[in-house]
Parts: sequence; C-alpha cells; structure tokens
Amino acid sequence: MFFELSEEHLAVQQAAREFAQNELKPGVIDRDTNMTFPTEQVKMMGELGFLGMMVDPKYGGSGMDTLSYVLAIEEISKIDNSCSVLMSVNNSLVCWGIEAFGTEEQKQKYLPKLTSGEWIGSFCLSEPEAGSDATSQRTTAVDMGDHYLLNGTKNWITNGGSSSLHLVIAQTNPELGHRGINVLIVEADQAGVVVGAKEDKLGIRSSDTHTIMYNDVKVPKENRLGEDGFGFKFAMKTLSGGRIGIAAQALGILGGSYELASTYAKEREAFGKAIIKHQAIGFKLADMATDYEAAKMLVYRAAWLKDQGMNYDLASSQAKLFAAEKAMHHSVEAVQIHGGYGFVKEYHVERLMRDAKITQIYEGTSEVQKIVISRSIEKGELNVAVSK
Ligand code: CAA
Repeated sequence: MFFELSEEHLAVQQAAREFAQNELKPGVIDRDTNMTFPTEQVKMMGELGFLGMMVDPKYGGSGMDTLSYVLAIEEISKIDNSCSVLMSVNNSLVCWGIEAFGTEEQKQKYLPKLTSGEWIGSFCLSEPEAGSDATSQRTTAVDMGDHYLLNGTKNWITNGGSSSLHLVIAQTNPELGHRGINVLIVEADQAGVVVGAKEDKLGIRSSDTHTIMYNDVKVPKENRLGEDGFGFKFAMKTLSGGRIGIAAQALGILGGSYELASTYAKEREAFGKAIIKHQAIGFKLADMATDYEAAKMLVYRAAWLKDQGMNYDLASSQAKLFAAEKAMHHSVEAVQIHGGYGFVKEYHVERLMRDAKITQIYEGTSEVQKIVISRSIEKGELNVAVSK
C-alpha cells in the first residue's frame, strides 16, 4: 500500500483547485441565488478536459484514470456543486456508459461532442413513480421494427434543460421485467421531447434539473446501447461508477466545510482566545478532520479498484454512503462553528450545507447504498476477517 499521490495526480488536483478558486468562486453565490446555469464555466471545463476525463483521447477525452477524475471533482465540489454534478453525470454516467457499451459508430458520433462541452448529456432513469425502485419503469420503448417508439416521463433530470443527449432507460418487454428494459440514446432536439420547468431546489441551485416528457419519440434502432434487454444492467453498472463521482462530490463538501471552519476557528476570538482553543469547537474540528481522512480513503479506494479493473460495486456504495453522511453532518457543524456568520451566504458554508443534502439522495439514496452493502454481506462478500 502506498498512500501518496503521484506527480500527475497532484498536477490534476492543483489545476482543478485553481480553476475552482479563480473561475468558479467569484460568481458562485449569484449563480446559486438566481439559479443561473454556469454556461461560461461549462465551456471552460470542456476546454480544460474536465468533461471527458476518463475517455480515450481518440474520442476527444483526456485519457485519465478514475482517481484523477475523483481529485478534480473533489476540488470543484469545495466551491461549486452545480458544476461538479454536471461534471459527474457527463463523465461517469453518459460518457462512460457510451464508451463502455456503445458501438464504434456511437462512440465516434457522440463522445467528441460530449467531451469538448459542445454537448452535455443527461441520464434519464428516475420517474415520478420509479426512484429507488428503479426496475418499475413506466416509460415504454415499443419495438417498431426499424425504430423504438418512446413514451413516458422522467423526473429530476440533471442537465435536463441544457443537455443535447439523453440516455433514456425504458421498458420494451414488460413480461420480462427488468430484463425487458433498454437504454436508448435520444437527441434532445428530436420531435416529441418536451422539457418541463426548471426545479427550484434547496441546493445545487444553478444545476439544471427538469422533468422531461417523451411523446411518441421515434428513436432509431441503432441508438440502442448494448443488447436488447440490457438497459437495467446498464443502469446499475453505470451507477456503480457514478456513485464514485458523487462520493467525491460529498468528499469535496466535507473538505470544503473543514477548510472554511478550521480557518475561521483559528482567526475568530471569543472569551479572550481563538475559538479553536475552546474544546467545544476544537473537538468538532477533530471529528471533522478524522472523518474527512476516512472518507478520502474509501473514495480513493473505490476509484483505485475501478482503475485496477476489479469489482467496485460494493466499494462505491460504501464510499458514497459514508462520504455523503459525513458531508451532511459536518457541513451543519461548520455552520455552527461560524455562528451567525455561517447563516449568511457571504461565508459560503451555508451553501455547502444545502448542497450536502442531495449527496444523500441522488444516484441512490443512503438507504439504497445500504441495500447494496447488506446484500454483499448476505452473499459473504464482506468478510471482516480477511481484507480483500
Ligand atoms: N451490475 C450489474 N448488474 C447488476 C448490478 C450491478 N451493479 N446490480 C444489480 N444488477 C442486476 C442483478 O444481477 C439483477 O439481474 P438478474 O435478475 O438478471 O440476475 C438485476 O440487476 C436486478 O437486481 P436486483 O434484484 O438487485 O434489483 P432490485 O430491484 O432489488 O434493486 C437497487 C436494487 C440497488 C435498489 C437498485 O434498484 C438501485 O440502485 N436503485 C437506485 C436507483 C438510482 O440510483 N437512481 C439514481 C437515478 S440517476 C441520478 O441520480 C443521476 C443524476 O441525475 C444525478
């Protein structure tokens, strides 16, 4: 075991930190307040290679490993989680899904647009009545011979109003249950694609979240990803990687909260000394720093397993569960350490606290992660006596 980051990893981390500090931080409060989509910032992310970090350079990607991707998301999430969720969905759900399971033609057609930022993508799984219970898809993709006829409604779609490409999960053969589900590449400008109003959210407010309706959308057969009936497994496999991205986002929120709270606690004085010298504050920071290191180990390990070509389903759920729960807890504590200043936007911690909540919900709630983990325990995959 070696716990140091390589020169290459440190360089990616530094580039992301500088981008976040110089380009994201200046307007982040206004974008959050006004729910303004970060158009300029997304363009810059494309130019810097942050939108297709793990994609092969022959399709316009940066050809980096998952750990590099995690380091970049972590830094960006210390400042702007609307940008980091966009980055996470585009990288680990949309680009990865197409690169891992698409045909050569699909990869050549779509990946260069998605990695450059010319297009961004959405992952359309959730429905009004199918959230955690993702097998209960009501959206239908009826096989019409040369095309699928797509009908249904998808909810909580990240990048919903700004994406040019949707990966849509839909039921083709209901009698086969989850084995009758397909995943289709839908171009957003196709007739019958209707984007609903932008959601007014607690956190990640400048992220573009919409309901999307598909009304008799004709999707060419060649736009199916993978074999007939592969859609549910596609969603599960893709989400395993996606959860590493959201775990990295939660890690960034935790790290950002810690950086702000520890700096403030060393500067702010009360009762004649810096507040960090009061145990009530110093102990909160000690817990925060320790949980941050533990979350980091879990998140980096999940990325490492993926990079080694090893199974990372369990590790990604554990990383997301722990990092999200700790991000929520400690971002509240960071606000408390700031006192009244923590309650106003200017000090940035209240935004991190609001953003933390969604990391416990999307790409599988904390409860869903516990389902995945407890099923692994049942199968004997989590043996505490032998570390695998
Ligand atoms: N890889 C491959 N296959 C998998 C898999 C994985 N990681 N996990 C499950 N499967 C397969 C199973 O093997 C099974 O296949 P067979 O029947 O052929 O053997 C099939 O999928 C069904 O599996 P389960 O019986 O375990 O399914 P389940 O209905 O009990 O659900 C669940 C399990 C973990 C709760 C799952 O439904 C789930 O993850 N739900 C949450 C969905 C989710 O994360 N939604 C997020 C929306 S996307 C989003 O948030 C993006 C965004 O915009 C930010």
